[in-house]
Amino acid sequence: MYLITGATGTTGGLVRDLLLERGDDVRGMTRNPTRPDHVHGDYDDPGSLAEALAGVEAAYLVPAAQTAVHDANFVAAARKAGVRRIVRLSAVGTGEEWEGEVIAPWHLAGEEAVRDSGLEWTVLRPSSFATNLTREPVHNLTGDVPQAVIDPRDVAAVAVAALTSSAHHGQLYTLTGPAALSVPEQVAILGEARGRAVAVVDVDPAAFDPAWRSGVLWSRSGRNAVVTDDVARVLGRPATSFAQWAREVGRFAG
Ligand SMILES: NC(=O)c1ccc[n+]([C@@H]2O[C@H](COP(=O)([O-])OP(=O)(O)OC[C@H]3O[C@@H](n4cnc5c(N)ncnc54)[C@H](OP(=O)(O)O)[C@@H]3O)[C@@H](O)[C@H]2O)c1
Repeated sequence: MYLITGATGTTGGLVRDLLLERGDDVRGMTRNPTRPDHVHGDYDDPGSLAEALAGVEAAYLVPAAQTAVHDANFVAAARKAGVRRIVRLSAVGTGEEWEGEVIAPWHLAGEEAVRDSGLEWTVLRPSSFATNLTREPVHNLTGDVPQAVIDPRDVAAVAVAALTSSAHHGQLYTLTGPAALSVPEQVAILGEARGRAVAVVDVDPAAFDPAWRSGVLWSRSGRNAVVTDDVARVLGRPATSFAQWAREVGRFAG
């Protein structure tokens, strides 16, 4: 049995669907179950985590807020339930320093909770999701600076590989698309796939949410333009291009 947290979210839903396609037993965790394969679970309610994790072999852990308390609660419940393996979603740049601040300290502490759990673990640090472009107008936080934007379907496929085998234990994967593209370039490609212009607004750095500010400035400095081959190493095929995502997913999502 696999427990997929964030089952109503971007990557959790994709991970659940891939496991169901494989014929695996899956429980999707959400605070408000609406499907037969959903169970109730809330990171702030350890009792609900104990129930959700009963009989589970491996869990996909999607952090939902800027706190490592959720990870601590989840790891404690997973250990008690005899879970063998946790695959934790994180984010590119985690733990790097920018302008005297640590990027995403809650992700760093959450990763540490999983790595120190004594269970098998894999950490996934994806770049910016292509799906961020589906809300219109697109908010451009990074100007003309390219980022190695990734198709969430690739994140999900890597998560399934790590959930279903011990071969990825102890690995920290930085997951990127095959090329770095600026938001204006992404918007142009998405517009081509949709056959119409996609609206975009530039966001003034002064207006950035303080919690995300250092991470966004880190990306604006060009550090999120790095392309890795971790998707290809795990999946044995190249990462999906933004253009392919736009044709197959993005054009229907606007
Ligand atoms: N978006 C990006 O570009 C990007 C890139 C790299 C990394 N990430 C990381 O990915 C993670 C997920 O972000 P996302 O925007 O893609 O969100 P998401 O997975 O689409 O949605 C968040 C999920 O968390 C669940 N959730 C919220 N509060 C919860 C709680 N108290 N207990 C249990 N589950 C709870 C929600 O389920 P219910 O509401 O149904 O309970 C929902 O399924 C974040 O940590 C982010 O830093 C995002």
